[in-house]
Amino acid sequence: MGRGRLKQYSIEVLAHQELTEADLHGLRSLFDSEYLEEFGEWDPRQPYGYASHDVHSMARIEGRVIGHVGWAHREITVGTQTLAIGGVGGVLVSADARGVHLGRELMSWAAQSMRDHGRAAFVYLGCREEVVPFYESCGWKRIRAREGSVGRDGRPVVTEPGPPILILPISPLQMWPDGDIDLRGRAW
Ligand SMILES: CC(C)(COP(=O)(O)OP(=O)(O)OC[C@H]1O[C@@H](n2cnc3c(N)ncnc32)[C@H](O)[C@@H]1OP(=O)(O)O)[C@@H](O)C(=O)NCCC(=O)NCCS
Repeated sequence: MGRGRLKQYSIEVLAHQELTEADLHGLRSLFDSEYLEEFGEWDPRQPYGYASHDVHSMARIEGRVIGHVGWAHREITVGTQTLAIGGVGGVLVSADARGVHLGRELMSWAAQSMRDHGRAAFVYLGCREEVVPFYESCGWKRIRAREGSVGRDGRPVVTEPGPPILILPISPLQMWPDGDIDLRGRAW
């Protein structure tokens, strides 16, 4: 349980298949409140055309979902290596709960669940330039690489180095390999 300027909230980490109808309803309300107008309804199977999540770290106050970080396990290619990652997406804190480190706390629960899971070497995501400082404050490092993925419209897409890609090693000794990235699927 957490406290702060917010009323008492709880954080839970749930596998996707454990989500109840009420959980899905709470997540839909959270995402629709932010993105409905611009991107349409939230779809848990393919949120806004991005990859879905295997695990959800969720914050609630009195049943209302006020924050979420999702992640999914995947093997990707970097240069000549195959690398196991936890791809992170659906990072959202409701507008009335921002600025009190809930986002950072949800991220640390998500990273801990990946450690417990024991398969990923790195946590990985792409984001907008404006939110890079948030991820850096959570300990993430920015890298530059060409990134291939399946686009939101289902077609292959290659993004030249430049837009933010952020990584977080699960073990501090792990080095990110050089080379082009192939996400072998949709981005998060
Ligand atoms: C980004 C977001 C999840 C951050 O959640 P939050 O709970 O308000 O963030 P925190 O309070 O944990 O912030 C941790 C640090 O990151 C910084 N930070 C938070 N949001 C930021 C933002 N949007 N841009 C830049 N820095 C930000 C904070 O200043 C804070 O730094 P501090 O420790 O020096 O005070 C939230 O603003 C949000 O949901 N935004 C809309 C959706 C979005 O952009 N998601 C990211 C998609 S890639």
